Amino acid sequence: MLKSLHIDGFRSLLNCSIEIRPGINILVGPNGSGKTNIVMFLEFMARMFDRPIAETVNEFGGVGQVFSRFGQGMIGTSIQARLVGGGTISASVNNGGRAISYFEYDYAYSAVFLKKIEAVHFGKQTFKIRKSATRKQLSSMRRSDTWDLYLSQKASIQENHVDHEYRIKKMNTGKFDRIDIPFSGNAADGMRGEIVRHLEQSHDPEFPILLACRFLSPEISMTIDDLSAGKVINIIPHIAKRSEDSAAPPGIGRDGGGLAATLHAVKRNDASLEIENREESSRANHSSGDVGNVPRYRGISKRVNRKHDLHLDINTSLHIEAALNFLEDGIDDLRVEIDPLTNLLNVSVTIPSGDGRARVPLRLLSDGAVKWLAIVTALYTNRSVLVIEEVENFLHPLLQKEFLKIIREIFDDPYEMEGRSGFIILTTHSESLLNSADPSEIIVVTNNSGETKTRRPRRVKQIADTIYQTGVRLGSMYVSGVLEDA
Ligand SMILES: Nc1ncnc2c1ncn2[C@@H]1O[C@H](COP(=O)(O)OP(=O)(O)OP(=O)(O)O)[C@@H](O)[C@H]1O
Ligand SMILES: [Mg+2]
Repeated sequence: MLKSLHIDGFRSLLNCSIEIRPGINILVGPNGSGKTNIVMFLEFMARMFDRPIAETVNEFGGVGQVFSRFGQGMIGTSIQARLVGGGTISASVNNGGRAISYFEYDYAYSAVFLKKIEAVHFGKQTFKIRKSATRKQLSSMRRSDTWDLYLSQKASIQENHVDHEYRIKKMNTGKFDRIDIPFSGNAADGMRGEIVRHLEQSHDPEFPILLACRFLSPEISMTIDDLSAGKVINIIPHIAKRSEDSAAPPGIGRDGGGLAATLHAVKRNDASLEIENREESSRANHSSGDVGNVPRYRGISKRVNRKHDLHLDINTSLHIEAALNFLEDGIDDLRVEIDPLTNLLNVSVTIPSGDGRARVPLRLLSDGAVKWLAIVTALYTNRSVLVIEEVENFLHPLLQKEFLKIIREIFDDPYEMEGRSGFIILTTHSESLLNSADPSEIIVVTNNSGETKTRRPRRVKQIADTIYQTGVRLGSMYVSGVLEDA
């Protein structure tokens, strides 16, 4: 999991550090303090992993939108970022059991705007990783700043092009003993030399260096997953209400598009689980002569559809339908059907009507109801929902409270968490959302003469005590400005 970011030169983020914690992280602060810029940075970084850095900058509006502006038309020429995190890896061992190992990474880069050639490129990238079989050993390595691998890439500007030099500053070859790269036979510089040559030949310097060295260890692939997961969701009800083609890829998009396709995938997943169940129970009946039709979920409880970045399991549709009950009009019985003429997906639910219930299509529901459906679907199906901006718009205060509860349930349950990023970032101005938040979940964002600064409230325990003793809520503290000084 990504644990901390240091950013310098990206929009209003100048020398700005952000510490992320597992679970909920809520960015609060005045308009224009830089919350969206922080969110945008995470998206920027994710995008950087699948297209050249210069293209990424263009997609975000060009140099003038991405690099920091100062005073009268001045623009910064470099963005520096450092991302630190870590994780665990579970691998099967010789005796058939599984062993957990730990790792930490530190990836830093600078993106430089070179006026002379009107181009953006990586100025320098460093990637360091340490691995260990125990937590204790890992923290002692941290204390002595020991790394198992330390790679760097540095650009030097020639006449009208950029040259890149790769170096391995450190390598504990013992910990990378399963590397399989063709050995050119140059024994003099050994494995290090081979890796440097591999980087020189295969790394496109417009991309993060991690992509070219992922073959070195699974931990590096996990680091890439961490850093490229950035996804922002800002649901617009009328977009979430749209009918979608049955062939559309599932996954809730940035603006709430993809809801129908995702719900379709959820329902299809249910159907395929049912078939597997039937097959398995008929097998069981056959072998033991057992009668009865007890559903058996063993062995089919998890499915992660990586292709679409979708997380589906046996509970997904139950969770989504249960969340619908929180809507005041008692929405129920979600159904997704394909219109045979148009090939469009029809999502419908039932709502109370007169003495009975009536089936209504998604587009006739209220904005808030559809937004709620889209949000919970995103929470339950996305492996990498990292950021939800201003979730409160359209949502009743009680739903805002319920929303935090659902996230906590997902993050408290290691089973639910499988294959997902370990944290979520929210931005909000909602007093009622904050009333249900814990002071330790808050990150206060302020704008000091154009520079965004972030910090965790210093006196979290004191705030919690005050809330407990006086009944004054966190949201009121935010609104009255106390939180920002706490
Ligand atoms: N390239 C840039 N260089 C420096 N500052 C920038 C740049 N682009 C935007 N800004 C500044 O960033 C600030 C906007 O920050 P942002 O949109 O992140 O605020 P916010 O905290 O999300 O506010 P809100 O609560 O209104 O959504 C503005 O003050 C704007 O001037
Ligand atoms: Mg904003």
